[in-house]
Order: sequence, then structure tokens, then C-alpha cells
Amino acid sequence: CSFLKEKRRQEVLEVLCAGLARQEYRGYDSAGLGIDGDKPGEVVYFKEVGKVIGLRKKIAASSIDVEKVFVSQVSIAHTRWATHGPPSERNCHPIRSDETNEFCIVHNGIVTNSGELRLVLQKRGYVFETDTDTEAVAKLTKYIYDSQPDKRISFSELVKAVLKELEGSFAFVFKSIHYPNEVVTARRGSPLLIGVKTDKKLKVDFVDVEFAGQDNEAKVDVPPPTPSSLLAPPAINPKVLRTQSRAFMSEDGLPQPIEFYIASDAAAIVEHTKRVLYLEDDDIAHISEGELHIHRLRRKDGDQTPSQVATTRSIETLELEIAAIMKGKFDTFMQKEIYEQPESVVNTMRGRVNFDSHQITLGGLRAYLQIMRRCRRIVFIACGTSYHSCLATRAIFEELTEIPVSVELASDFLDRKTPIFRDDSCVFLSQSGETADTILALRYCLERGALCVGVVNTVGSTLSRETHCGVHINAGPEVGVASTKAYTSQYIALILIALQLSEDRISLTERRRQIIDALHEMPGMIKKVLEQDQALQQLATTIADNKSLLLMGRGYQYATCLEGALKIKEISYMHSEGILAGELKHGPLALIDENMPVIIIMTQDSLYPKVQSAFAQITARKAQPIVLCNEGDAGIPEGAKTVRVPKTIDCLQGLLNIIPLQLLSYHLAVKNGADVDFPRNLAKSVTVE
Ligand code: G6P
Repeated sequence: CSFLKEKRRQEVLEVLCAGLARQEYRGYDSAGLGIDGDKPGEVVYFKEVGKVIGLRKKIAASSIDVEKVFVSQVSIAHTRWATHGPPSERNCHPIRSDETNEFCIVHNGIVTNSGELRLVLQKRGYVFETDTDTEAVAKLTKYIYDSQPDKRISFSELVKAVLKELEGSFAFVFKSIHYPNEVVTARRGSPLLIGVKTDKKLKVDFVDVEFAGQDNEAKVDVPPPTPSSLLAPPAINPKVLRTQSRAFMSEDGLPQPIEFYIASDAAAIVEHTKRVLYLEDDDIAHISEGELHIHRLRRKDGDQTPSQVATTRSIETLELEIAAIMKGKFDTFMQKEIYEQPESVVNTMRGRVNFDSHQITLGGLRAYLQIMRRCRRIVFIACGTSYHSCLATRAIFEELTEIPVSVELASDFLDRKTPIFRDDSCVFLSQSGETADTILALRYCLERGALCVGVVNTVGSTLSRETHCGVHINAGPEVGVASTKAYTSQYIALILIALQLSEDRISLTERRRQIIDALHEMPGMIKKVLEQDQALQQLATTIADNKSLLLMGRGYQYATCLEGALKIKEISYMHSEGILAGELKHGPLALIDENMPVIIIMTQDSLYPKVQSAFAQITARKAQPIVLCNEGDAGIPEGAKTVRVPKTIDCLQGLLNIIPLQLLSYHLAVKNGADVDFPRNLAKSVTVE
């Protein structure tokens, strides 16, 4: 939204479409936007199933006056990933409250009690036009507004009353004809940030938070959050609290031209401003007359007291560079990110590893190292590729720390209501820092008093803010849905943590030294593996027509098999399975015949003889495996197809072995005509349970 800043409609549309396109990588099935119409209060919508490019075409083909100039305006846009109701133009956001567009909202997340709300609102005569959970919120907003006798309620108070009735997760933006040039945005569980752009310098670098109830307890009087409460309309005290913060007024105290950009992700706004503030759960931000005010929602289920929540939100400067989220010379983001790995692993180690003195310094953990060393177990918790990086490093973590490590899929961890104690250390791995299951698992562990450590790529993400301490993996923005460079950087970050925790163990000095020396060699070795790209492209053509592909290995390489299989299935849609070679005889061997393609990982570590015997077992069943092995290994039977990688220390070999599998999956996807960066049905950041 912009205030006192002249904007052509064309400019506004461009900002919205470009912002949506920058968030495309998160995965979506339809896109839509709502902008101010020609007459006051009018809203014009454009909605399209499929890509943002389709939405752009639709706008270009319309007769809308793109030259119209607005002095102040509010516009909203959204990419939808269907949860309630199939992808369709009808279900596309923005969602309106009624035909006259009194309230118009976009929503990321799931409102879990929308069914009950819908029923109650239907009973009161509301007719729904979409299948979305969001529409119940739009209509509830209108219902509460209409219930106010004098309609003198402020926009933020109104939204506050609405949110109190909601269960589930959300990030919302509200626009309304009753509040022209105002916008309210709020979050619980889904990410949300606000970028600020002014021509003048901002007077302060924070915004005060207003805790309703601190000095004005009964400001909003909403009945209990049962749908039946809707039968008695909530009475809202119209008295509006002014916050002390006038952060966005100019020096002379007069209103100044200003723009605010609200988004789920910094990538969407970084080309407009680098000054952002991140909202916390239950924050309600209200932008009106060029001012930004943040209010807290007081929840019935035990709101945090003001002393538990910071009373200001600081305006931070994004480090993100626009070039980092562009494809450059590569065809796809995934390809670019695979090729970035020689640098991204260096960035993970930068300033943290002294290769001369063999010392590790992880500043983000400093104050918590002793607690971690003394804990009775370490629990790694993650989803998807992040989970695989935990599996890949579990053995070396246990070896170096001598603390038992368990590895948990966040969803299963929660389903089991896993016992967690104060003397546990829980480590949460997430590229995005916004994965709903991982965040819920984090909150579960925080409640039980465990030390919570984040290993996250996205600075400012929910996970990085809510953990006690942590390590940013510094891999740079990852756009491709299939995670590549984040995996190798997470892997290294976990190794660094294990090295740091074990620095006082004299008996491990030599082992630690060898690992640190091997880390030093890693970027050069990754480059060597990348040189095999063409050979892997050819290999892909030989297997692309198969229905299935098995990857087999054991020990450190089991995680590589799982991660390689995940890459292949998610982007090429070929069925692929990672198999622990030790389990071969317990089932998978039945799948083996001359037609089943198998990749067997046989790099040289202590389990090499055991993998050799698995190799013998499958070749005896006429399989013709492709062997992923070390350069110069003369033990591989003649005639076997090989992919060779440099040899490094056992616990780091997985970093090199995964790269040919990333490249192979990439070429399989291209060969099969799949959309590499945006695989069907998947999202980069899964912010719903
Ligand atoms: C989604 C993505 C995966 C990712 C997983 C966990 O499934 O498509 O690439 O590994 O989420 O995401 P996180 O951001 O928590 O690492």
C-alpha cells in the first residue's frame, strides 16, 4: 500500500505480479489480485488458475485503465496452494465478504474451525460462493462489522475481534471499502513481514507494540470462541488506543509519502526496500494515514503476557541481494543451486572454521554449549531433505559427542507425543525456517523446557526467532523446490556443531583434525564432481524410460540413498526408493531382476565389504547396477557402469555422493519434460500441517 505517493495503476500491478512471481518457488496452483477500482470503494479482481504469467496475460487482455493515477492506494495479491476446495478461479484469492466487496482478504494457512464458522454464518443467512476456509473469515468480518451499532470500530479492532474466533494457522491481509487506504495484516503460524520505503530517513528503527488489556482491559469484548457465540454479536468498545509510536512520520511531524510492502517472504519485496520488520504470532499490524501500528491479540487460550513478548518490533535491514534470487546463466534455479555448492559450503564454514588451528567457533551457540554437552540426549527434528541431513550426520554426531542422538520426522514426532524432558537438547533443521510441522514440534519442545537449537537457512524466519540459539547455514536463498545446496550446507553445519561440542575431548583430537582438513578440501572436490554433469546427463537418457529406480547403500550412505531417491521422485516423477543394503534380504531383493535399474553406493569406508556382498547378491539376480564409487577404486568388477567421485573421509563422503544424484534427478526431470523448479503438487515451504 502507498500513502501520498502517486502511483499509476500499471506500476501497482507490476509490483504485485513481480512480487507473486518471486514467491512462485514456494509452490502454488492459482494466483489472484485485488486493486482499487475507478470509483471510490470499488475493487477490481483478476484471478487465474496456474502460473503468474497467465495472470499477467489476463490483465494485459483486459480493458482496465492502467494509466489511472492513485495518490494513496491499497492492493493485495496471492498465490494459492489448495487446502479447502480444488484449484479454480472461484477459490482463488482475494476472497470477498459479499458482492459489494465490503471486505476482501488474502490468507496463507488453514483455519481449522472454518467448517463450524461457515455453518453458523449460513444459519444467519450468509451465502457462500467458494469452497475456501478463507471465505468464512471474510464473512465473519462483515458479520462483526454489521453488528456494531454505530460502525465506529477501528479496522484493527475489528480484525482483532475476528481473529479471536479463529483456530488454525494464518497470515492475513485485510482490505475494506469501509476503511479506504487502510490495511490490516496479522499472523499466527504463517510467516509475515512488512517492508517500509520512504524517501526520507526513518526517525526510529523500531515500532512500539500495543498490548491491549495492559491499560485498557475490556477494550474488545468478544464472547467465547464457540461458533454459537456468533448468535450473540460481539459488542466492541469503539474507544481506540493510540500507540506512542509515530515511527513513520517525518522529522517535522507532517505525514510523508510512504510505501509499505507486506509479504510472506523477503524475496517478494527486496527489490523495493531492504528495511523490514518481521511480525510475531498474534501481532496485528494496522497501516493507516501512512502510520504503522502494531497491536497484540489477546488469546483466550493463554496469551503471553507483555513481559514475555518484546514490546517493540525492530526494523531490520535485509542482507538479501536481488541477484541471489535470479537465475543468471542457468536454465533453472535448481541447476543454479546445484552449481553453487562449491561456494555455498564455503559460506557455511566462513568465519567459523580455523583450518590452521583446527578450531571451530559457532557464535550462535556459545552461551549454550555447556548445556548441550551435559544434556542426556540430542533429538534432531525436521522434514523432507532437512530430515535426511540429520540422518546423514547422526553417526558422526554420536561418535564425536558420545551423546545418544535420535532423528525424528516432525509430523511423526508430534503424532506420537514423544516424551521430551528439560535435559534434552532438540535441534530443529529447516531450510525455510517456516515448515509448520517443524515449528509445532519446536513449540512442543519449548513448552517442555528442552534446549531448542535451530539450524536454519532463512534469516528472520520463525524458527530462527523462536529457538533459544542456533546456527544459520548461510547457503543463500534457495528457490528450487527440490532442496540441493541447503542439504550440503545443513550437513556441514551439523558436522561443525558436533566438532564444536567435542572440542575438549583429547582422545578425539586426531579424528577432529582429519575431519577439519577434509572440510578444507571439500569445495574443490565438489567442483570435480560437478565436472561429470555431461556423463550424468547421458546416464539419465538410459534410465529415463524406466518406471522405477532403486538406490542402495548402507552406513553413512543410507541417507544419501534416501535423499537421492527423494530428489528423483519429486522432480522427475519417477518412482524411486532408497534402500538400506542391510535390509536387502528382508524384502527389496524380490524387486530385483534384469529390468530393474539400481544405483548402488560403494564408496570406500568400513562397510565397503558388506556393500560388495549386496552387489554380489543383486548381480546374481541379473541386475546390472550402476555403481557410485571412488576414483581409482580397482575393486569394482569390470564392465560395471560406474559414476566416480573423489574419496574423502567417511563422514563427509555423503556430501560428494549426493551431487551426482542431484544432477541425475535434474536430467531425468528435464528428459521427462517436468517443470524442474516447480514440481506438481509440491511447495517449497510447507506452512500448513
Ligand atoms: C518441503 C520442500 C522440501 C523440504 C521440506 C522441509 O517438502 O519441498 O524441499 O526439504 O519441505 O522444508 P524445510 O524448509 O523445513 O527444510
